[in-house]
Amino acid sequence: MTNKRTLSIIKPDATERNINGAVLKMIEEGGLRVIAQKRAHLSREEGAEFYAVHAERPFFDELIDYISSAPITVQVLEGDDAIERYREIMGSTNPADAEPHTIRASYAVDILRNTVHGSDSEENAHQEISFFFNEDEIIG
Ligand code: CMP
Repeated sequence: MTNKRTLSIIKPDATERNINGAVLKMIEEGGLRVIAQKRAHLSREEGAEFYAVHAERPFFDELIDYISSAPITVQVLEGDDAIERYREIMGSTNPADAEPHTIRASYAVDILRNTVHGSDSEENAHQEISFFFNEDEIIG
């Protein structure tokens, strides 16, 4: 399977500020297509499961509080080299380091409330997509 799909989350800081449309505009103008989408409000348990890889990090508790604090939107993005392309569109995890005109440089509050999430490898993309979507919900 080639690298055509990635998982995107528009996080609580963005849904609370009602800027989902602005973020999606940057994703679409960056050349990626939304092929599945839903709104969700994760429980702390679901947040801890999604971010289990970070369980030992000092910021884990505040990450789980934050990701479960308000609704998110999750979408599957499709395009050539979707994982790398989306990471370019998002910019660095820490908005202080993010390149100009990226989503995080434009909208992130801080390193925790950094507006968007994207998968970081093909294996994680598969895993993260199936965390949120059944195959029949990926419409194209
Ligand atoms: P994300 O790309 O979703 O992956 C893990 C998340 O943890 C990250 O975005 C941030 O929301 C958060 N994060 C990463 N590093 C830190 C940090 N040093 N302090 C607080 N939160 C962090």
